[in-house]
Amino acid sequence: MLTAKLEAFARSLTPSARRQRAVRRRIAREHLRGDGIEIGALHLPLRTPRRARVRYVDRMGVDGLREHYPELADEPLVEVDVIDDGERLDSLASASQDFVIANHFIEHCEDPLGTIGSHLRVLRPGGVLYLAVPDRRHTFDRDRPVTTLEHVVRDHRDGGAASRAGHYLEWARAVERLPDDLAPAAAQRLDESDYSIHFHVWEPDPFLEMLGYGRSELGLALEVQALQRNGHEFIVVLRRAPDEPPTGIGHRQRDG
Ligand SMILES: C[S@@+](CC[C@H](N)C(=O)[O-])C[C@H]1O[C@@H](n2cnc3c(N)ncnc32)[C@H](O)[C@@H]1O
Repeated sequence: MLTAKLEAFARSLTPSARRQRAVRRRIAREHLRGDGIEIGALHLPLRTPRRARVRYVDRMGVDGLREHYPELADEPLVEVDVIDDGERLDSLASASQDFVIANHFIEHCEDPLGTIGSHLRVLRPGGVLYLAVPDRRHTFDRDRPVTTLEHVVRDHRDGGAASRAGHYLEWARAVERLPDDLAPAAAQRLDESDYSIHFHVWEPDPFLEMLGYGRSELGLALEVQALQRNGHEFIVVLRRAPDEPPTGIGHRQRDG
């Protein structure tokens, strides 16, 4: 039944969506092996090579995801193996994973630098972080300003608390295109329901600038292995540097 649904879904893809998935798969084949996780797979799990074994992490189980994303009612969703906050991954031990996949996830994070720190923490030395990031210019974020380095640095200091209301207001205005008199109430409703918006928006260069800052100023032990533009997104493959501690900034660890 699930296979039939997946096949029907695959048939419904446009040629450009097929091409983009093929690029995701090719890069996965080149970089992923061993035991790892995918965060926020939802309806679009990355097709991984046979030598990669994946467990699925999300902030809620499938029933909660169905409620949060009613627009996906007709699509199969991935069964969630681990319910956890993907910004922190508190339930996973340090250096326990060969790879972390997080496609269209980092923009949903309130503290992207801290999130990358958490992902590096759970990776083994040499482990791979595979990220697909929407490119602001080719999505519904096109009318929003690109997130600056100063902004993510500030959000790293307070976990994004001071920016949160402003993010929802920007979303209500620039994505939902609500007029000034309606946007504040809509933004408040989204905030109260903890709706998972794109808190931040990037293009490749500002994203690389953030990674460079994380490496040089925060001690994130990352190496950029690949960057590939892919239609409405770009794919970044990072590696946890093999000979360095993972990060100076990662979130709290629960290693038993
Ligand atoms: C836009 S969907 C990504 C779907 C798919 N991976 C793709 O490539 O399009 C974002 C996913 O991230 C999950 N998510 C958002 N914030 C999260 C968090 N803090 N911790 C864990 N999962 C989170 C959402 O529940 C959802 O499954």
